[in-house]
Amino acid sequence: MGSLIAVVTGGNRGIGLEICRQLTQKGVKVVIAARDAAEGVAAARTAGADFHALDVSVPASIEAFAAWMQERHGRLDILVNNAGVLTDRAERIIDGMDAAVLERTLLVNLFGPMRVTQALLPLLRKSPGARVVNMSSILAQLSGMGAGTPAYRISKTALNALTRVLAAELEGTGVKVNTMSPGWVRTRMGGEGATRTVEEGADTAVWLALLPDDGPTGGFFQDRKQVAW
Ligand SMILES: NC(=O)c1ccc[n+]([C@@H]2O[C@H](COP(=O)([O-])OP(=O)(O)OC[C@H]3O[C@@H](n4cnc5c(N)ncnc54)[C@H](OP(=O)(O)O)[C@@H]3O)[C@@H](O)[C@H]2O)c1
Repeated sequence: MGSLIAVVTGGNRGIGLEICRQLTQKGVKVVIAARDAAEGVAAARTAGADFHALDVSVPASIEAFAAWMQERHGRLDILVNNAGVLTDRAERIIDGMDAAVLERTLLVNLFGPMRVTQALLPLLRKSPGARVVNMSSILAQLSGMGAGTPAYRISKTALNALTRVLAAELEGTGVKVNTMSPGWVRTRMGGEGATRTVEEGADTAVWLALLPDDGPTGGFFQDRKQVAW
């Protein structure tokens, strides 16, 4: 079959770029799917990966990307839905957060992974054992739900629900779908005060991307261990 083929959305920087690096080091052919071509090409060079433009909030961009993947590779083994936004650090619903903030966040953090997975599913089904990894957050936990960053929390909880629905719909097909928290990671989103390196943040994603056939599906993980929903 040759090398495994992976797509990492938002692979141009932060945790996504590190996932690309670790996957290429393991011999996986990686496509960085990112918005800015200049940054994406430069990132692809440092990670030994390929690049194609993708804005996960734009359906036409997703369609064009899927068509390119079909023509270029004809198959997909690993999809990491890593692209995400956090724009509501200072917001509170009770202070009148504009619903547009939630709409914009859902567009990237929920509808993005849903549409990208749908578009690439025909290629994932051609793999003997495809893996989808959704980059969620510990802030998505219903069991630990609290105040602050409401749009981000709601979008990532919804992403976790999407993970379980997809995993159930794909049960028995060989396509496994899991969601994960990378911990608090030093990136543009996580900030300089974060406790983890990108290497630590990427580790569980790479582990889920390369799960063996008897590995889990429909789970929520941090540090390679199942965590509460
Ligand atoms: N850092 C943390 O502590 C932490 C904790 C929990 C979860 N996470 C999750 O980890 C993932 C990666 O975050 P990060 O920490 O590496 O943050 P980051 O450095 O801010 O990276 C975010 C990535 O998402 C991309 N992106 C945003 N909107 C996009 C769109 N519409 N289409 C395509 N790509 C888009 C960005 O691309 P551009 O360069 O084009 O903006 C960038 O590559 C996110 O899903 C985040 O929610 C991070």
